[in-house]
Amino acid sequence: MQKTKLKNHELISTEDGSMSAFSKTYGENFHNTTGAASETRAHYVDGCKVIQRAKENSPFNILEVGLGLGVGVIETYNACKDLDSTINFTTLEIDEELIIHLKENNPLFKDLEKIGQDYVCSVGNFNLVILLGDARVRIDDCMNDLHAIYQDAFSPKRNAWLWTKEWFDKLHSLASTECIMSTYSSSSSIRKSMLEAGWVIRKGIKFGMKRSSTRAYMQGESDQDIIEHLKRSPAITLTDDNAEDYHL
Ligand SMILES: C[S@@+](CC[C@H](N)C(=O)[O-])C[C@H]1O[C@@H](n2cnc3c(N)ncnc32)[C@H](O)[C@@H]1O
Repeated sequence: MQKTKLKNHELISTEDGSMSAFSKTYGENFHNTTGAASETRAHYVDGCKVIQRAKENSPFNILEVGLGLGVGVIETYNACKDLDSTINFTTLEIDEELIIHLKENNPLFKDLEKIGQDYVCSVGNFNLVILLGDARVRIDDCMNDLHAIYQDAFSPKRNAWLWTKEWFDKLHSLASTECIMSTYSSSSSIRKSMLEAGWVIRKGIKFGMKRSSTRAYMQGESDQDIIEHLKRSPAITLTDDNAEDYHL
């Protein structure tokens, strides 16, 4: 079978041997060049403590912001496939060619079936739903009671509308009290947006050349040094009203 070529993306390999891509639409790489798979495991699978917490919660509900090449899907499937729990994994994606690419290049997900605007399939204990379209609209069709959120949009300068206070309000409304939201970004503007939306924020790990990242929670206390830093920082709180001006 002739595989469909990517028109909007160029594939690139990263230093851990896994594949990533450059988006011609957004002008940005999907992952840190240090390693797409290792970054995904560090920030999302480990950052959201998926394995430990999925053992205790079935079903375990995960939302990913941005399917991309499906690295988040594949790494989560690999981490959870032998657990007794059911994993419900919903991911948002605006560009259909990426969904076709996952289906055609990964035999595990060859049975992805388009039903209306969604692509769905189940592999063992792993139920995958891909909501095609603008995340800001499709989020209304997302399950609630989320245990983990992989906030993996492009950077705030390239994808500002997926980092605003209003976006994080929406995610907050879908989260369970034990939810962990994780992201590679440590931008002061997005931390301010998360805080104003009611998230508790803490420092995440350093990965590759990036010195920090962010983990957000529904309960507990934010890291005091982050709060002090944000009080002094001139960075704006990203909102739907100023996102247009913030965007490059
Ligand atoms: C950094 S990449 C995600 C990488 C992905 N998690 C992976 O594991 O390969 C960001 C993704 O968000 C998608 N995206 C950007 N803006 C979007 C929007 N408004 N709605 C839905 N998806 C969007 C892009 O097409 C891209 O695939």
